[in-house]
Amino acid sequence: MGGAGLAASLLLLPRGLSLAHATGTGPLRSLVPAPARVRMVGAEHPETAVWAYDGQVPGPEIRVRQGEHLSIAVTNGLPEETTVHWHGIRTPNAMDGVPHLTQKPIAPGETFLYSFDVEDAGTFWYHPHHNSAEQVERGLHGALIVEECEPIRVDREATWVLDDWRLLPDASISEDFGNFRDMSHAGRLGNTVTINGQVLDDMPVRAGERLRLRLINAANGRLFGLRFQGHRPMVIARDGHPVEPHEPEEGRVILAPAQRIDLVIDMEGAPGSRVSVIDDFYPNQAYRLVDLVYDAGAPLRDHPLETGISLPPNPLAEPDLGSAIRHEVVLGGGMMGRMTEAMMGGRMTDIRTLMRHGMAWAINGVVAEGHHHGGHVLDPIFTLKRGQTCVIAMENDTAWHHPMHLHGHAFRVLSRNGRPTRFREWQDTVLLAPREKVEIAFVADNPGDWMFHCHILEHQAGGMMSTIRVA
Ligand code: C2O
Ligand code: CU
Repeated sequence: MGGAGLAASLLLLPRGLSLAHATGTGPLRSLVPAPARVRMVGAEHPETAVWAYDGQVPGPEIRVRQGEHLSIAVTNGLPEETTVHWHGIRTPNAMDGVPHLTQKPIAPGETFLYSFDVEDAGTFWYHPHHNSAEQVERGLHGALIVEECEPIRVDREATWVLDDWRLLPDASISEDFGNFRDMSHAGRLGNTVTINGQVLDDMPVRAGERLRLRLINAANGRLFGLRFQGHRPMVIARDGHPVEPHEPEEGRVILAPAQRIDLVIDMEGAPGSRVSVIDDFYPNQAYRLVDLVYDAGAPLRDHPLETGISLPPNPLAEPDLGSAIRHEVVLGGGMMGRMTEAMMGGRMTDIRTLMRHGMAWAINGVVAEGHHHGGHVLDPIFTLKRGQTCVIAMENDTAWHHPMHLHGHAFRVLSRNGRPTRFREWQDTVLLAPREKVEIAFVADNPGDWMFHCHILEHQAGGMMSTIRVA
């Protein structure tokens, strides 16, 4: 959509934001979520009806330089309300895209202008935060890449938006979104895994080249455990933020929903050879994700590049653990869980009644019924003073994995089951294995009410959602 179309449509400027400020630096971009049809599973199958940004699945890759201002007018072409959340970007609260909490949802036909500075370099992504178990699953998500001012030297860069679809034999999306079985177990696991919206057989590579591969897990529920056979990928960033370069544990790159990992891979295979990338996260369900297919030509170089692969740090405030306030967060519920009752709508409710209402999960004993219920937004589970360091000690008291995501901040992962982590990595989405305990720390330097929820979108819809206030 060009400038003229934008001016003609209804422009809803968020409070306190003038148009001049919104468009002052950087181009005004646009994004239109709307129904579309895409070919996902190859020429011999019909097209798939999806919901897509600008007609593409994934949506267009948005690329900006660190420190730039991003202005994006989102015009809703869907038959229902939507919002856009810029996952991992530390935006002002009003730009965070959470319906009812930070903005009114965008009605069909309306436009909302998102406008914010991008402070951190890295691999981020965008997706709706309204009815997200359905909207993200129908195809609404895209990569948001923030380039370092001085990037590391690589020969080539690629982004893999990984997604998982539950397709029917005619390649249409099974519309059993948010069903109780998926919600109370592992989330929606599909039958078709795509890379950038396609079932891919081959990825062409060249011997000797150094590749920076940005992985984004856009699936509702599927975790990935990727093995690049015969290669030694190095992890250089997690959730966008630099980490000391290291090989993944046991050579397997684990990626939970919403997480990102940047890898540097030196292509050390022989010209003309072919090696598989295997996903074996779920035992007994290993499959070949894609083959790396080496060009037959001479290698680009004989020895791997010797230049460094450490990224410059992002401008994140360092937690001051000496003065930190500590909060405990317990995740409960789900099938085979120990939770017998929880608060829902201000009432202590037994687990059977919860489940009859299609709910199954709680944070600190409270089941969240959506972003907005009976005129109330979610009450914060705790309030932090601006500038304060907070340690959250999380305990997963369930039989299931939960990738927990905090909005508006990045946090350091301090420990797992009482043991300090090796890299104290910055993340915005941390995976808790069944029964695992994880401690995170961050400086509450971004004022507002921020979502803190499980990013298995069926779990979020089933109650595993809360907010934290920074005042
Ligand atoms: Cu990626 Cu609250 O979301
Ligand atoms: Cu969960």
